[in-house]
Amino acid sequence: MIAPRMSDRQFLQFQELIYKRFGILYKEEKKDMLQAKISRQMRSLGVESYDDYLEAIRGGDDENWSSFVDDITIHTTNFFRERNHFDYLRKNMDALLRNNPLVRQRFEIRAWSSACSTGEEAYSLAMVLREALDERISLKILATDVSRGSLARAAAGWYRSEIRKDAEPYFLQKYFSREDGGFRVNESLRRCVRFRFFNLAEHFPFRNVFDVIFCRNVMIYFSPEMQQALLGKMARVLPPGGLLFIGHSESLIGKQHRFQYVQPTIYMR
Ligand SMILES: C[S@@+](CC[C@H](N)C(=O)[O-])C[C@H]1O[C@@H](n2cnc3c(N)ncnc32)[C@H](O)[C@@H]1O
Repeated sequence: MIAPRMSDRQFLQFQELIYKRFGILYKEEKKDMLQAKISRQMRSLGVESYDDYLEAIRGGDDENWSSFVDDITIHTTNFFRERNHFDYLRKNMDALLRNNPLVRQRFEIRAWSSACSTGEEAYSLAMVLREALDERISLKILATDVSRGSLARAAAGWYRSEIRKDAEPYFLQKYFSREDGGFRVNESLRRCVRFRFFNLAEHFPFRNVFDVIFCRNVMIYFSPEMQQALLGKMARVLPPGGLLFIGHSESLIGKQHRFQYVQPTIYMR
């Protein structure tokens, strides 16, 4: 079945809906891509018109949005992606603990992988922090995303054997076991990471602060206003000395924020 062409009005309505709900900006030049994704969803649900589909998701709860969001978001990720961030943590753990004495006071480090996709970022962070920290310091990692499909894969912690090209043999041996032709993250590491649904466009409900936040390769999909709002919210959940990592194609230039520049894509509150 060939999908009918989406009118400009319909495109603008979808664009506004996605923007309001998730902060994701689908620009005009992505219209064909959005149309292809939406018509795929419509086919799988047996919905025939864009207007009907629009109504269905507009009034719908999280479940109605679930597979749509899985489809309209980009989930590319890998273990130790943008490796210099992990090297920075490895090499600068003493400075991090000096600048943020809360970690030693509470014997716990809290990190947040705020758009974790299928979990590789959160587990990479867990391995690096576990190796760099005194073992008396416990590790708590919150990993969140709006894609339920990705979160389910992340929580299962099973990855194809191709991860060998990204994760060093030392980490694979210590933190994974061989399973079904791939690698599964060991229970001990999985216990340190909690995967939850969380939409960065929403109000932050967190009671505790984090010591490290990874907010990588997600801001790039947001409008400048949404990026600005997000930086304000992030600053409120990082204590002085806490670290923010953004993606290599993202930048805080031209934004108002309360972070100090450390090196490209690494900031300290
Ligand atoms: C390209 S992946 C980045 C994964 C990882 N941070 C990395 O750098 O490898 C972008 C992720 O952002 C998530 N995302 C998009 N909009 C979001 C939002 N409003 N709140 C939370 N996550 C969102 C997507 O579902 C997707 O998994």
